[in-house]
Amino acid sequence: MSAIRIHDKSFEVYLSEATIQERVKNIAETINKDYQGRRPLFIAILNGSFMFAADLFKYLTIDTEISFIKLASYKGMRSSGNVITSIGLDVDLFKKELIILEDIVDTGKTLYNFIPKLKDHHPSSLKIAALLHKPEATQFPLTLDYIGFSIPDKFVIGYGLDYDGLGRNYRDIYQVV
Ligand code: IMP
Repeated sequence: MSAIRIHDKSFEVYLSEATIQERVKNIAETINKDYQGRRPLFIAILNGSFMFAADLFKYLTIDTEISFIKLASYKGMRSSGNVITSIGLDVDLFKKELIILEDIVDTGKTLYNFIPKLKDHHPSSLKIAALLHKPEATQFPLTLDYIGFSIPDKFVIGYGLDYDGLGRNYRDIYQVV
């Protein structure tokens, strides 16, 4: 599908399924090398990262584990700015090598607020893998260790990302027109 409409907005294809898959595979291959002989624990942040996490995981060949957690929700096209809750953090993080999986880093506030809570559990290392990063929008200092695509500060949907709950099901990533 080349263009879609959700509520009041129109979106057109920005990153194709093939482009996304190739990049996700590259990231997995880099992680396979970086973590050879180790056993990272991925923490995938729901809802948006479910497709990224699923695809990345298929390309990993190292011993690895994954856990899914849910943080703040995002209303409409502007970040609510507040991390409301974290549900599902039921694994022991002590001395674990953590890799956070996030769909998109926009202002950076979500991760900036959440990372200290993970560090309280004394993991032995912590890295962040974000499929998308909007550098122009980022206001909170974060080190992103693996980035899929740096994109302009325009709203995107698809491949797990939503506009008001809709649009997560598309295989391509669409940008607002
Ligand atoms: P941040 O705290 O401002 O970095 O926002 C992070 C969260 O906002 C992401 O995990 C997404 O859920 C949501 N978000 C930010 N930008 C977009 C976008 O362009 N499309 C869909 N969701 C977005």
